[in-house]
Amino acid sequence: MSSPSTIKSLPASGAEEPAITIRNITKMFKRHKSHEGILALHDVSLDIGKNKFVSLVGPSGCGKTTLLRMLNGLIRPDEGEILVNGQPPAPGPHMGFVFQSFRLLPWRTVHENVAYPLQLNGMDKAEIHERVMRYLDMVGLRKFAESYPTELSGGMKQRVALARALVAEPDILLMDEPFAALDAQTREFMQFELMKIWHQRKAVVVFVTHSVDEAVLLSDEIVMLRPRPGQVSEILTVDLPHPRWDYDARARPEFVELRRHLWESIKEMVAADPQSEFFNREGKTERSAAED
Ligand SMILES: Nc1ncnc2c1ncn2[C@@H]1O[C@H](COP(=O)(O)OP(=O)(O)O)[C@@H](O)[C@H]1O
Ligand SMILES: [Mg+2]
Repeated sequence: MSSPSTIKSLPASGAEEPAITIRNITKMFKRHKSHEGILALHDVSLDIGKNKFVSLVGPSGCGKTTLLRMLNGLIRPDEGEILVNGQPPAPGPHMGFVFQSFRLLPWRTVHENVAYPLQLNGMDKAEIHERVMRYLDMVGLRKFAESYPTELSGGMKQRVALARALVAEPDILLMDEPFAALDAQTREFMQFELMKIWHQRKAVVVFVTHSVDEAVLLSDEIVMLRPRPGQVSEILTVDLPHPRWDYDARARPEFVELRRHLWESIKEMVAADPQSEFFNREGKTERSAAED
């Protein structure tokens, strides 16, 4: 039997070569018409192992999206180094990206949207068709291949976006709050869908979420960031066995304890951040709150 899952900080690296290495990265955004910048990330280091599902959590504005965009090579750090499979990051077929908004092309059918990354790669037509249908099947949308995005529900659109990210069979999948725009029930279906797809076709997944519940359910490891400047505050391991759709993972004491710990930590960070609208809320007495 596996040992019970407890909250623990991981050493920075495992036994095997990590798929992603982040070393001492710092990123400052210049402000329009101001000499002061925003230090979005400061001295962040992290190793992500092969085929790991890793979530980034933390208060709004702590640099999660910035970090993800750096992994994709869309923006570069001011200092430090990132290596993806030993190379500097660059967008390409080895990377899939899923955004919070679906970003489908409205004038293209579902099939054409999913085929798009393969057409960029110059794959031949028959092979593209086979691949597209295989991935539409995986996300349960085979019947909707000829529909347009406007004809689909939010959950279906996000499944198309997922198929599009997976179709080039990337070994790195970057997801930025992909389920945030979905209703609670659809979101839960999508979480299970993603678990199943990841189980079938392992890849490194770096998953940004606001939901600590979602982070614990899906991840092998959870990286908590603290804001201003964004830094790694804690790395937690989720020892719950995979696959997690086979049993009620949320009912496990390890799950409940991890979720509580994450949520308490985020609340504390937010209450201690003078730039947050929730600054010092917790510390207020009823009287001082009434005096505001
Ligand atoms: N392109 C940009 N220009 C200026 N500031 C930015 C830009 N992108 C992000 N920021 C700032 O950097 C910080 C981190 O942002 P972000 O990575 O989007 O945080 P998160 O995804 O954790 O909410 C925030 O203070 C944000 O306002
Ligand atoms: Mg973000």
